[in-house]
Amino acid sequence: MIVLGIETSCDETAAGVVQLQPDGTGRILSDVVRSQVEAHAAYGGVVPEIAARAHVEVADEVVRKAMADAELGFSDLDLVAATAGPGLIGGLLVGLTTGKAIASAAGLPFRGINHLEAHALTARLTDGLAFPYLLLLVSGGHSQFILVEGVGRYRRWGTTIDDALGEAFDKTAKLLGLGYPGGPQVEKTAATGDPTRFAFPRPLADRPDLALSFAGLKTAVRLAAERTDPLDEKAIADICASFQAAIADVLAIKSARALARFRAEYGATAPALVAAGGVAANTAVRTALQGAAENAGGRLVVPPGRLCTDNGVMIAWAGAERAAAGLDDDPEITARPRWPLDADAAPLVGYGRLGVKV
Ligand code: KG4
Ligand code: ZN
Repeated sequence: MIVLGIETSCDETAAGVVQLQPDGTGRILSDVVRSQVEAHAAYGGVVPEIAARAHVEVADEVVRKAMADAELGFSDLDLVAATAGPGLIGGLLVGLTTGKAIASAAGLPFRGINHLEAHALTARLTDGLAFPYLLLLVSGGHSQFILVEGVGRYRRWGTTIDDALGEAFDKTAKLLGLGYPGGPQVEKTAATGDPTRFAFPRPLADRPDLALSFAGLKTAVRLAAERTDPLDEKAIADICASFQAAIADVLAIKSARALARFRAEYGATAPALVAAGGVAANTAVRTALQGAAENAGGRLVVPPGRLCTDNGVMIAWAGAERAAAGLDDDPEITARPRWPLDADAAPLVGYGRLGVKV
């Protein structure tokens, strides 16, 4: 089965072609990502209107290149898939309309994909991982622990009650004048800093559940920056290092708890913890997760960076997996700005940059 996937939910316009082979493994035939980072840099965050316009401008070209790189025509495809949510509605509409138009013109089936499901299934494409496994998704829009039981079967074990982790990195960077996107800048700056100089909080670390919170940490960083005089290069490096240390601690503690629950619910299985999303690129974060996984007798799986961040390949792969599993999808699906993976999880107010603050 050969599938074209289109991703336009945030600030990357992406398309990829994947082949699901008879033995269940996947082969990536093309992977094209056009980032809009420069268009948003001046604003220190993603501006929805700018994002939607930029998607319109390059979507056709990105799809054309994905098909050309795969050396295929539309008639060689078996399925077209595009992200239907969650995400910014303007961008979602661009990708969905493009995907539906191609499917309709080429007489192919169409599937609208949940972006979180695509992140959740990526490790099966890259590492051939078997179900069940635990996913920690930490990106600019999401921070959640998801138990992946099977295709279409997900349980959200914990999520942020306020900001997404990537958002906290971006806001910290902005506050310290480090540029956008903030995560890589904070990591670079932290490398020369003292992680013990500022005693930042470890939010919700003592709570027995898997909820996360990063808004208070962001405030603590702001207060530290305001109170530190001089706020020179050394002080900024120390703040970054201390901020990162707090995050690494929290993620290690929460991951250990999630893995303990995994072991309790799934018996002696050596648990696999998958990390995905832009923040999974952070070395301090990876080291913390690695430690937690090893302590639990399991292992950490991190798909290659290119497939951890937003891309079209994961959308194509999710489409292939859903089709192979025989799951019914609505070909008329429209954009869904909010679309929790786990319909049974309690709805949350005030989370992430895609949500409405209350
Ligand atoms: O998954 P992603 O590329 O896009 C979505 O948000 O969907 O994640 C982007 C986020 C940004 O907030 C960025 O600052 C953060 O991931 N990020 C990092 C690093 N690289 C990217 N955060 C910490 N350390 C990094 N090295
Ligand atoms: Zn994403």
